[in-house]
Amino acid sequence: MKDILEKLQARREEAWLGGGQRRIDAQHAKGKLTARERLELLLDEGSFEEYDTYVTHRCTDFGMQDQKVTGDGVVTGWGTINGRMVYVFAQDFTVFGGSLSETHAQKICKIMDKAVQNGAPVIGLNDSGGARIQEGVASLGGYADVFKRNVTASGAIPQISVIMGPCAGGAVYSPAMTDFIFMVRDSSYMFVTGPDVVKTVTNEVVTAEELGGAATHARVSSVADRAFDNDMEALAEVRRLVDFLPLSAREAPPCLPAIDDPDRIEPSLDTLVPDNPNMPYDMRELVTKIADCGEFLEIQEEFAKNILTGFIRLEGSPVGVVANQPMVLAGCLDIDSARKAARFVRFCDAFNIPILTLVDVPGFLPGTAQEYGGVIKHGAKLLFAYGQATVPMVTVITRKAYGGAYDVMASKHIGADVNYAWPTAEIAVMGARGATEILYRSELGDAARIAARTQEYEERFANPFIAAERGFIDEVIMPRSTRRRVARAFAALRSKRVERPYKKHDNIPL
Ligand code: HXC
Repeated sequence: MKDILEKLQARREEAWLGGGQRRIDAQHAKGKLTARERLELLLDEGSFEEYDTYVTHRCTDFGMQDQKVTGDGVVTGWGTINGRMVYVFAQDFTVFGGSLSETHAQKICKIMDKAVQNGAPVIGLNDSGGARIQEGVASLGGYADVFKRNVTASGAIPQISVIMGPCAGGAVYSPAMTDFIFMVRDSSYMFVTGPDVVKTVTNEVVTAEELGGAATHARVSSVADRAFDNDMEALAEVRRLVDFLPLSAREAPPCLPAIDDPDRIEPSLDTLVPDNPNMPYDMRELVTKIADCGEFLEIQEEFAKNILTGFIRLEGSPVGVVANQPMVLAGCLDIDSARKAARFVRFCDAFNIPILTLVDVPGFLPGTAQEYGGVIKHGAKLLFAYGQATVPMVTVITRKAYGGAYDVMASKHIGADVNYAWPTAEIAVMGARGATEILYRSELGDAARIAARTQEYEERFANPFIAAERGFIDEVIMPRSTRRRVARAFAALRSKRVERPYKKHDNIPL
């Protein structure tokens, strides 16, 4: 028996060494951790249960029959994050560059199937040279098997991808279909075609980091939701994100003990909105003053900064926040911000996370770039996402809510349950100046008259009471008591249920 146990231990140790010490050293030299080191940081200590440790590839071409590595380049299994179950896979770059073989794909598919069946998130740590070249179409088939499972799992369980090394070619499409992508700066990249092909086809000279590094995807393409300086920071933030998410669509998001007084009054909010309607202010300040302990986990912080999206807690329960940011483009909606917010709203709705919308929006951004870029369809995504959402929704208008953007930003009409406005709210078809110039076009030459007409319009429409008179606004609230009002509104909506008519699925404008 002792002999048998020693043999098992030896086989395990062989698997733990992956592609060998030399390649592990090379991985460390690049500032990257190994697959197993990453899992140790991601999961609660001692919680990892590994599956398929002894799987090897079945390829016999190119002398591969003599190059079998236990585990075949991916470590899979499950563990816990703060006591809650998650399934994981971590590609091992030390084994054939983490490339995906038929058996490597089968290992990933196994844990994805279990995750869907048992209702727990999947977290994938990607570090791979792509399709295992020696295996050809068997590898491509393996990718497609993973893709299909990403689609099946979408909306059923949260899926999180962390890009911690190369991720190129068709391989990018698995992370692309997951809910969140985190990337590590300077050691990871994602692109469909690399710098060499780009140079050949378009003559552009670009580095891998410029083409598909974390900064590019977090700021320019919006492919990445967050970017981090190193593996450790990225994994710590995945743990933080998981703490906000339910394990599956069948469950409520996790409620922590409420440690911050929900009745906390914030007198500073009474002066947050400047007297001058054209002066910006930082909407992030309102978000953090509403949130339990001021904690705001922002998603896509570096992209489309004219809208904020992210998670807070209220009385310990997760809430998704969508908020116009007057500091950038005056808080206008545009193609990028509409896409960013629409995807976030749909994630929250899929996973039972209530949505708080904070509104200060002067309208949609004008211009040929927007119209040619399809702002009609992209703006419709956000409208559609809100219109479709059935989770509890609370909206607070702090200042401007003009035109179509008023409707889009979780208005009562589109499905919000409780709509509050601050006394500084201006709910109208457009700003006073623009409205006057259209209504009194014949008087445009008379500056004094136009000024008087503008003032008249402002007095009549630049307030929340016309909307409140119609019940479109449930209550005009003191800014200082926003946290209390919003927390009580969500508490009252905890058992909200909505029935929808039968359909196969909707046809959201894409
Ligand atoms: C088999 C691979 C491999 C691959 C890397 N290796 N990629 N083995 N299949 N795709 C092996 C190398 O032979 C090497 O083995 C080890 O992994 C490390 O690779 P290096 O090149 O030494 O590392 P580095 O210099 O860091 O470069 C990493 C790399 C490069 C940029 C990823 O290896 C590379 O360009 N690989 C090929 C990428 C590629 O074209 N993949 C197919 C893309 S198409 P040794 O034994 O020396 O350690 C694709 C389609 C997916 O993925 C389709 C889905 C629909």
